[in-house]
Amino acid sequence: MKAQLIDGKMISAEIKAEAAAEAAALKEQGIEPCLAVVLVGDNSASKVYVSNKEKACAAVGIKSVSHVLSGETTEEELLALIDALNKDANVHGILVQMPLPKQIDERKVILAISPEKDVDCFHPMNVGNLHTGAKGFLPCTPAGIIELIKRSGHSIEGKNCVVIGRSNIVGKPVAMLLMQENGTVTICHSKTKDLVGICRGADIIVSATGKVDTVTADMVKEGAIIIDVGMNRNAEGKLCGDVDFENVKEVAGAITPVPGGVGPMTIAMLMKNCNTAARIQNGI
Ligand code: GUN
Repeated sequence: MKAQLIDGKMISAEIKAEAAAEAAALKEQGIEPCLAVVLVGDNSASKVYVSNKEKACAAVGIKSVSHVLSGETTEEELLALIDALNKDANVHGILVQMPLPKQIDERKVILAISPEKDVDCFHPMNVGNLHTGAKGFLPCTPAGIIELIKRSGHSIEGKNCVVIGRSNIVGKPVAMLLMQENGTVTICHSKTKDLVGICRGADIIVSATGKVDTVTADMVKEGAIIIDVGMNRNAEGKLCGDVDFENVKEVAGAITPVPGGVGPMTIAMLMKNCNTAARIQNGI
């Protein structure tokens, strides 16, 4: 293997240790950071994510309170719970696990969460702050990707960065963060012409399409940094990312594995945002 393996487990452990120290310092000031986690319905992937978030809170010393609602929950019921959590001074962060059942409008739910408690950084106010470079929450997966690149010893400044995927959760915000790090950013998507040619010019590729083999070795410049946000199952049912890891690792300069790359970073950055939320709400 030619490429450096970017170890998301190790880097996320570092960040969680920092978050634990921050949480301990807040507790010394009489503030116990607290995250409310809301799960609606029984999407099996969502259940795993929520359980991992609760475990991380316990490990870091952040209080977590879970609200598990049935798949038949109405939009009004969910909005009423969010209203109560917004008003609860002991709750600093509110995370509603997505996706939501079809009878609930995700956009309305995102708008209902107080921007001060929006630890996912999904609210348009926080997205606007992110785009204008104001201080505040950073979206967890995109911010985790920036940390992975930097903490594994690479700089973004002046690099050609190609983001594949334009979702609100990953593609768009990670492109913005890469630009704020002074990268030159191209966003590609399902209608992009010549994805191969564009990727061949990239120093950094972030793939977030949810499609196996989005990035193959012929698309990768010698020495490029490859960040794989995908969480897919291949034909044999094995967990894999968007990148043809086995072949790309022989060309790339650095690469994230799946699992153990981007995945653990999302939760580590969430822990940081919970502390940020507790600070914002206490004016510190
Ligand atoms: N579903 C998939 N990723 C996420 C995330 O980062 N936050 C929330 N709330 N739901 C998700």
